[in-house]
Amino acid sequence: MKIAIDGPAASGKSTVAREVSLRLKIPYLESGLAYRTFAYLVLQRRGSVNSVSWEDLRDLFGLVDILPRVGVTEVRVRGERIDHILGTEEVGRVASLIGTVPEFRENINRFFRRVIGKGQIVVDGRDAGTHIIPEADLKVFLTASPEERARRRMTQLEAKGVPADYQAVLKDILERDRRDRERKAYPFRPAEDAVIIDTTGRTVEDVVGEILTLVKEHETGS
Ligand code: DC
Repeated sequence: MKIAIDGPAASGKSTVAREVSLRLKIPYLESGLAYRTFAYLVLQRRGSVNSVSWEDLRDLFGLVDILPRVGVTEVRVRGERIDHILGTEEVGRVASLIGTVPEFRENINRFFRRVIGKGQIVVDGRDAGTHIIPEADLKVFLTASPEERARRRMTQLEAKGVPADYQAVLKDILERDRRDRERKAYPFRPAEDAVIIDTTGRTVEDVVGEILTLVKEHETGS
């Protein structure tokens, strides 16, 4: 079973995808973590970053390992685990810039397909259903209003003890949505055969339950 779960920034897709992976006991590939890994490496090299080109990224592929496991995507750089330090807003902003580089998208998607092989997988991201596993058995596209997504991001940041301002978080989400949607190569949009789920006002448990029902329906062919 291959499942693609896409959605915009802070739509809850990672939380939902991780839970689906745990319930079904199949590996989880959080594709955004790969974008964040390259963002982290570019930031380490350059300090501040306002634009990214393929030249900044091509040599970094050899350093990175992405390992999908049940309930977690392990990321290693030169063998060292770094997935726990990729959650900052700054890394997310640069990851979104990296998403506008077409050569990067082509190469990272090839990399993902090699990692996935023929195995079972839950993949989340922006283009899991359209480009990473277009052959997926089930494609889900999660949406939620920008305000709700900003509130969720605030809760996440507060839980981590990171001070955050609601208006700044909302502005960042809207900006990232615009960049993800308007990029020339691979603009962000749902796969034609995706099931769209609006999660505004719904709990994670409720949304996961709906997806598990869709999985069951697929398995029984109903
Ligand atoms: O899902 P996320 O917020 O961790 O992703 C960070 C950025 O990476 C996002 O703004 C756009 C980019 N990205 C992408 O372009 N395609 C993906 N499949 C995953 C992430």
